[in-house]
Formats: sequence, C-alpha cells, structure tokens
Amino acid sequence: MAKRWHGAMFGVLLACLPGAAAWAQGSLNLYCSVQVEWCQAVAAGFQRETGIRAAMTQRGSGESLAAMRAEAQNPRGDVWFGGTGDPHLAAAEENLTQAYESALNPQLQPWALNQWRQSGQRAIGIYAGAVGFGFNTELLARRGLAAPACWADLVEPRFLGEVQMANPASSGTAYVIIATLVQLQGEDAAFGFLRRLHANINAYSRAGTGPIKAVARGETAVSLSFVHDAVTERNAGFPVAWATPCEGTGYEIGSMSILRGARNLANARRFYDWALAAPAQRLGFEAGGQLQTPANRAAPLPPGAPDLSQLRLIDYDFARYGRSAERRRLIERWEREVGTLPR
Ligand code: F6P
Repeated sequence: MAKRWHGAMFGVLLACLPGAAAWAQGSLNLYCSVQVEWCQAVAAGFQRETGIRAAMTQRGSGESLAAMRAEAQNPRGDVWFGGTGDPHLAAAEENLTQAYESALNPQLQPWALNQWRQSGQRAIGIYAGAVGFGFNTELLARRGLAAPACWADLVEPRFLGEVQMANPASSGTAYVIIATLVQLQGEDAAFGFLRRLHANINAYSRAGTGPIKAVARGETAVSLSFVHDAVTERNAGFPVAWATPCEGTGYEIGSMSILRGARNLANARRFYDWALAAPAQRLGFEAGGQLQTPANRAAPLPPGAPDLSQLRLIDYDFARYGRSAERRRLIERWEREVGTLPR
C-alpha cells in the first residue's frame, strides 16, 4: 500500500517538473550497432519527434548479440538498430527477438524484405553495403606499393604488416569478410588464406570501422572494410580510396530487430516504423556522412555512395551464414586457427 502511495506521489511530482510531457510518453532503450554519430541522431530525432525518452547504447554487432544473450532472462533493450544482418538472423533463431510486421514494409527494397522473411519476421533490412579494401593513397605512394585489387594481393609479402581488419568475435564486418572468403574459396582454402593474411595484419580492431579509421589517420596502409565507410573517410578529407576485390565480394543487409521481452513494446514498434520511413533513413548521411544504401525505396542513394548494382557481388548465403551454430563455429575456428597464431 505504502509503495503505491509513493508511486502516485512520484507521478504527481513528475507532472510538475519541466519536461514532464516527454516523460509521460515513456521511454525506449535502443541498442545500436552503426557508427555512434548515426546512433545519436536516431535517438535524438525520435525523442524530438515523439516525446519518448530514448536511451542508446552503441556496440559492435557481435557485442550487441553477446549482450542480448547475457540479458535473455531479463532483457534491458527494446530495439536493436543496425549492425550486420547475420547476427540479427542468429538472434532471431535463438528467440532473442520477436516478430513484427510494419505498415511500411511495402516501401522497402526486396533485399530488406528477404531478411524479414528469412528471420521469421524478426529482423528487417534497413540498409545494405559491400565489403572491400580501403587504402591510404599517400602511404601507398610513399612506400611504392600498388593498391590491392584482388583478395590474392592481400597475402603478398609486399603487404607485410600493412593490413588491418576487425576481430569477428566483436565485429559483424569481420564476420561478413570471413563468410565471404569461405563462400568464394571453400572453407579449408579460406582458412589457409586467412592464416597467410594473418602475417600481413598489424592489428585486429574491436569495431568494424576501426581499420578504415586507421587508414585515414595513416596508421595502416590497407584495411578490410565496408566500402561505404571508406567513402565516409574520404569525404571527411583523408587521403583514402577503395576497391572491391576482382574475384567478387560479399555484402551486408544491415538490420533492425525488436527484442523479445521488450519492456517498452509499443514504443519499440513506434520507433521501428519511424526508422523505416524515408526521412529517418536519410539521417545516417545527414548526421554522420554515412553512405550505406537505404532500404526505403523513397530514400535516395546518398551522394557519392558506392552503387551496389555496379559491383561484383557474390550470391551471399544469408540463411547459412546467419545460422547461429554456423556463425559460432566459424568464429571459433578463426580464433583457434588464425587469431591466436603468433605474427
Ligand atoms: O556503421 C558502419 C558499419 O560499417 C555498418 O555498415 C555495419 O553494419 C556496422 O558498421 C558493423 O559494425 P561492426 O563491424 O563493428 O559490428
């Protein structure tokens, strides 16, 4: 009884405070796996337009999945916005997320809806982007090195200690790279390639964008990255260029999911619909210079963004490489056979 009285009192007090209107709309806990500027822009934009207080936690795709697994009995997040598609599929399979059908589905690209169907309606595509190489043109010129054009170039001795990629345990980008190589070369050959590549790697970063930021700062000559992130760095004024491998390359369907057990379910659905609409789909470019291909057909490709239809993309097997056990197995194999090897 006493507890209830306190609760009522708290409500009365709140109603007298400035900003009470916003509180009255409730809150939303956003887990976010795109770059932090974009995460902040969606949280702030949604809060401004709806009055719903949006708290945001930014982490890599693999790290967000790990947090959701750890919190499965007592979920703290409501929506997971962004990050590569494979861990969203794994989360769906592990029953960490829940199905939702937005009224905005008819506005989306077919690849965004494929992700939705494939996940049992638990994840939806919000953007797409291709894997490739980023490189620092000044550093390459100074070292007299030709830019890499093919996967095969990356393991050549001329790139000893010159290449950076992310760690697949934390980064969805790195996992897409490994799954791409497995699809292109076959699994054992791909792991042989990754072991040879290991000799040329100077660091495995936590975040998928770490290597391209290191390229921009001149700390490494070459990165394995999503090519849209290379254009972002070039547009910020750094001597960065990009290429996609001559043998073909993989891509991501950056995704969004509502968590199972979301405490603010109505707000989560409201955010989901808001995030799929064309104005919110432009926020990545407007707020953070992000250059992924948007899922909403009415949102234009940002100026200078890589045009995926012009790239040699493989027929990435999302069903297989998004499977929870397959993802875990490949990451563990990488840790055992590659990541822990001396360099
Ligand atoms: O926001 C940039 C980006 O490259 C996204 O396109 C991608 O989904 C995300 O980062 C992946 O981040 P990470 O590799 O750290 O999981």
